[in-house]
Amino acid sequence: MQDVESSSIWSPCLTQDGSFTFFSKEFEESFHSHGGAIQEAFQKFVRATNLEQKADGDRLCLLDVCYGLGYNTAAALETIWSIHPDCHVTVYALELDVSVARAAIAAPLLETWAPPVQQVLRAIAQDHQCLTSRLTAFLLLGDARQTIQTLVTQSFQADAVFLDPFSPRRCPQLWTVEFLQQVTQCLAPRGRLATYSRSACVRSALQQAGLQIGTIPLGADHPQHSHQWAQGTVAAFDSQELTPLTLMEQEHLQTRAAIPYRDPTLQDSADQILARHQAEQNVCDRTSTSSWRRRWGIR
Ligand SMILES: C[S@@+](CC[C@H](N)C(=O)[O-])C[C@H]1O[C@@H](n2cnc3c(N)ncnc32)[C@H](O)[C@@H]1O
Repeated sequence: MQDVESSSIWSPCLTQDGSFTFFSKEFEESFHSHGGAIQEAFQKFVRATNLEQKADGDRLCLLDVCYGLGYNTAAALETIWSIHPDCHVTVYALELDVSVARAAIAAPLLETWAPPVQQVLRAIAQDHQCLTSRLTAFLLLGDARQTIQTLVTQSFQADAVFLDPFSPRRCPQLWTVEFLQQVTQCLAPRGRLATYSRSACVRSALQQAGLQIGTIPLGADHPQHSHQWAQGTVAAFDSQELTPLTLMEQEHLQTRAAIPYRDPTLQDSADQILARHQAEQNVCDRTSTSSWRRRWGIR
């Protein structure tokens, strides 16, 4: 097995649950929460999309937007196959930079996963696909704004969508109304989309893309800080079974922070999208987000 040092520019950083993540110098951000990379995959993506309940069936389709180290796909496969070992899973994973997935199949990162899942992560990183009797997985490399078009054209319908780009300020391209409209077209009628983001601009973009939204509440074991109010967001066509937003979260959606990012041609640079957003915020007559923060005691 290759070791991490010799494989790439990516060096593992330990998170609080003992699992590893990477730090992106380009985006100036970690790939996962410092609270725990693996914990994040299970809590904010697998559990939030109800995969434990859905694994009863014989077939499941997943869309992993921003595959990165593959943790969300890996956590989903471990969960589904622990419940129904013969469930056939189809995965489409979108990713710009394959070097991340390649570095993630080195020790000690890969050892976190059960051996069958390790084989899947290896095949996806090396061959960009994994075809077995119970898995059809493809890694589509390139800008997700373009690669998603293939899935829209094929009428791909995912039971669960993991939406995991870097944060909206760092990677606004993948949080725009227009991109999320494409993603929404790939969501099955009873499917669920989950993201770690609780930003008002992301939530309003999901709504404008035609989805209902719910919150991922902070768990009882989650450290309570006054600047945190949720672990993320879940979206679906039907609000039934979603955890409703609190009054504080609903009011957040009335503020300036809820103006979504726009990218009409799905080709603009991050700077162009941020500048358009800033211009729109400057002329809007919504409540300021700082007064919302003061009202709810948020630092
Ligand atoms: C927060 S990380 C994803 C972490 C991943 N889900 C995991 O569990 O390891 C964001 C990922 O988005 C990828 N990315 C950045 N811009 C992208 C784009 N325009 N299209 C597709 N992927 C992109 C980065 O290379 C990075 O791997």
